[in-house]
Amino acid sequence: MNDELQNELLDELIELQAEKQPYLDEHWVQTSVDRYSSSEYFEKEVRALFLPLPRMALHSSELPEPGSFKRIDHAGRPLLLVRGQDSNVRAFYNVCRHRGAQLVGDESGCSRRFSCPYHAWTWNTQGELVGVPHEKSGFPGLDRSDMGLRAVPCEENAGWIWISHRNEEQLEVACFLGELYADIAGLRAEHLAIYASDSWEFNANWKLIIEGGIEAYHFRVAHRDTIAGLFLDNLSSYRCFDNHIRSVLPRSHLAELADAPRTEWDIRTHSNLVYTLFPTNQLLVQEDHIAWIQLEPLAADRTRLRLSTVVPEAELVEREQHWQKNHDLTVRTLKEDFAIGEGIQKGLKSGANSHLNFGRFEGALDQFSQAIKRELEKNR
Ligand code: FES
Ligand SMILES: [Fe+2]
Repeated sequence: MNDELQNELLDELIELQAEKQPYLDEHWVQTSVDRYSSSEYFEKEVRALFLPLPRMALHSSELPEPGSFKRIDHAGRPLLLVRGQDSNVRAFYNVCRHRGAQLVGDESGCSRRFSCPYHAWTWNTQGELVGVPHEKSGFPGLDRSDMGLRAVPCEENAGWIWISHRNEEQLEVACFLGELYADIAGLRAEHLAIYASDSWEFNANWKLIIEGGIEAYHFRVAHRDTIAGLFLDNLSSYRCFDNHIRSVLPRSHLAELADAPRTEWDIRTHSNLVYTLFPTNQLLVQEDHIAWIQLEPLAADRTRLRLSTVVPEAELVEREQHWQKNHDLTVRTLKEDFAIGEGIQKGLKSGANSHLNFGRFEGALDQFSQAIKRELEKNR
């Protein structure tokens, strides 16, 4: 992010803090509880969002060398992501082309060949069928080139690996991120590595977690035992980039900037940047590392979340204790959010609310909901 833009974003928040004002939208709005609880609505989201839209699936460092592979689930589909002998990353369905067995059982590893555990049909890292036991007698005339692993679109870009289930071969991540691409590329994630990852499943709609990441209204209350003291009360700003959102959450020492030369201002020292990469990824960009949240919506009321603490590769080992402390704090904070989210989800069933309310300082939540609505309408 260039100095002019970062100073503009900081100026805006410094001014609001001085006036003791939050960052306000024009109106407060209501949203239907069906968006969080209805299975039909969830199925529409699967078709319009989770299947077709590019999704940041792995960090490049998770597939460090030719043959490195990782198994993931995406929108209920089992995938195998592999760095080929040619160094390109590809994504395949983790499904045998003979009779459909799960091809790879290990979560991750490194291999030149993938051999099915049922009858040992075997593929190479580029998805080409290279071995069929008793082929001549059992499958005369088999065209091996027809039996490559089924690929899904995959692109490595700016230090991240992206996938989708839409039909086009190219994902065009830069185009998907639009104006926000410069910010994401500017994180220089190709020089980062994952310090630690954890995942959990919880009984709440996926949007409840995204929403908790784009407002600071709840920090003082819900996070009083963890991060509340690190941030200013109920102050955050946001900008939309098509469906994506960049939020700025100022740290409690924002006012110090008034005494510092503007040329020394650094937005990552005095705030957290939260990039909500539509729909299910959030990057919480902090002073010296990134907390990366990936959501895998499983049902209207169930979500899997993976948290990764992503740090400069060169400092991975020497600052281990520091990264662990940060990772632990993010875990504790997220667990507070899970508890709130599960409570909300349970309450939705009671019928106490037909609608939930987004205040004028929770405007990013409405923007996020409008983005979903636009995508659902496109998909009708
Ligand atoms: S199902 Fe995979 S080799 Fe038979
Ligand atoms: Fe939260």
